[in-house]
Amino acid sequence: MARAMAMIWGSALILVATGVNVVANTHDLGVNWGTLTSHPIHPKIVVQLLKDNGFKKVKLFDSDPWMVGFLAGTNIQVMLGIPNDQLEFLSDHYGNAKDWVKENCTAHLRKGGVNIKYVAVGNEPFLTSYKGRFTKTAFPAMKNIQKALNEAGVGKKIKAVMPLNADVYESKSDKPSDGVFRSDIRDLMKQIARYLKDNNSPFVVNIYPFLSLYLNSKFPSDFAFFDGGHPIQDKNVQYNNVFEANFDTLIYALRTAGASNLTIIVGEIGWPTDGHKEANKANAKKFYDGLFRVLASDKGTPLRPGNMDVYLFGLFDEDTKSIEPGNFERHWGIFDFDGKPKFTMDMSGDGTHKELVAAKGVQYLPKQWCVLVSYATDKWLIGEQISWACSVSDCTALQDGSSCFGLDSKRRASYAFNSYYQMNNQEESACEFKGLGTVVKKDPSTDTCKFNTQIKVGGGATRLGYAYGAIAALISLATLFILL
Ligand SMILES: *[C@@H]1O[C@H](CO)[C@@H](O)[C@H](O)[C@H]1NC(C)=O
Ligand SMILES: *[C@@H]1O[C@H](CO)[C@@H](O)[C@H](O)[C@H]1NC(C)=O
Repeated sequence: MARAMAMIWGSALILVATGVNVVANTHDLGVNWGTLTSHPIHPKIVVQLLKDNGFKKVKLFDSDPWMVGFLAGTNIQVMLGIPNDQLEFLSDHYGNAKDWVKENCTAHLRKGGVNIKYVAVGNEPFLTSYKGRFTKTAFPAMKNIQKALNEAGVGKKIKAVMPLNADVYESKSDKPSDGVFRSDIRDLMKQIARYLKDNNSPFVVNIYPFLSLYLNSKFPSDFAFFDGGHPIQDKNVQYNNVFEANFDTLIYALRTAGASNLTIIVGEIGWPTDGHKEANKANAKKFYDGLFRVLASDKGTPLRPGNMDVYLFGLFDEDTKSIEPGNFERHWGIFDFDGKPKFTMDMSGDGTHKELVAAKGVQYLPKQWCVLVSYATDKWLIGEQISWACSVSDCTALQDGSSCFGLDSKRRASYAFNSYYQMNNQEESACEFKGLGTVVKKDPSTDTCKFNTQIKVGGGATRLGYAYGAIAALISLATLFILL
């Protein structure tokens, strides 16, 4: 949620910047591995995918020991995750944090075990839309986890961190130099910044230039990318894109907390490919190409030149994520739901890295689709069945600005039916729709709109998924009017 644009820079700031220790070494890219999907790819396949694509770091949103176990022996650096709904439990009693560290962290640390480097306590817990629900618990939970890590003798190597959205800071004037922490959590953020500093831990921030565009239609679109276009010139500094301006706003905010030289990790950055008019593969490719060039150049930002520590968001599309933030929310993957690359990507930023390598060994359900019968005429009934199907599956691609928005009304029904049918593993009963559904063997996809066939979920992977429920269904229902 970037909102900053730079103007004035004193030379004092530049001095501060040059005094910063830059994290040594290379462009070890990280990536976020989210699992809010109806058909998770088996972790064994995912870990191979990470290796095949040269990812050196992975960030998780949970710490399911079964899933984390597949990272053992890989040397991939891991950031475990603790979901927000566990924060209260961990903040209330130190003993809970101790148990957590024992079961979910130190248990993996044997020789040939998992290379755990961080524990991410909460995920964007101070997001404005949470209305303060986690402000009392997140920081105490993080302190308890760090204390437990320290007591277990691993606190020097493994750090508790707190991934925060860029909405925890702001600039009244839109200049980074006016960057401050958000007023409702300002004192808390200062305490957290100082705590991280004392503990030698990094500040983890998620920065989304896409959201700058999404949230403000007047935002100059080229400023969201890395190709210049609308540079903002300040006395000494020129900002060419909102990412740099946003990042430096954070550094300024950290200064107000006396922690300006904290190491900063970009915990999430990326661009979605569907669900909004600016969310498409061409824009995503443009964004990533620019990002990788910046990373390869080691130029950093004006206030923090040098190597940047970055985790892409994210690995796969996740069809059961809440779409409260927007329909694009399920389309952040650099890989599709089935582990196929969506577009070519030169992650080296210098032309040497070939293309993304697809997931190996993913198995599909049969090549068949559920569509609307050709003789259907009852518009009311069709509408009702679309509504129902979409409320319990994923119709984000049908929405305004999305890849399937242009379909005629019959094909829209087919898309909705198929989405439900695939999500339910092509069960016969999932293509009834009061007599309106029929299974076909010919792919109904169009040039722009893909009708998927789902993948087989094997092993214990079903343990991970199915996070969608009442809330997701309600949100889908609320969007139905757009469909009808
Ligand atoms: C920040 O500055 C303090 C002292 O001012 C120093 O101890 C610490 O190592 C510095 N940290 C970084 C990341 O530069
Ligand atoms: C370990 O993590 C899992 C997954 O988040 C959680 O369900 C479990 O409660 C944690 N274990 C402990 C002892 O807190």
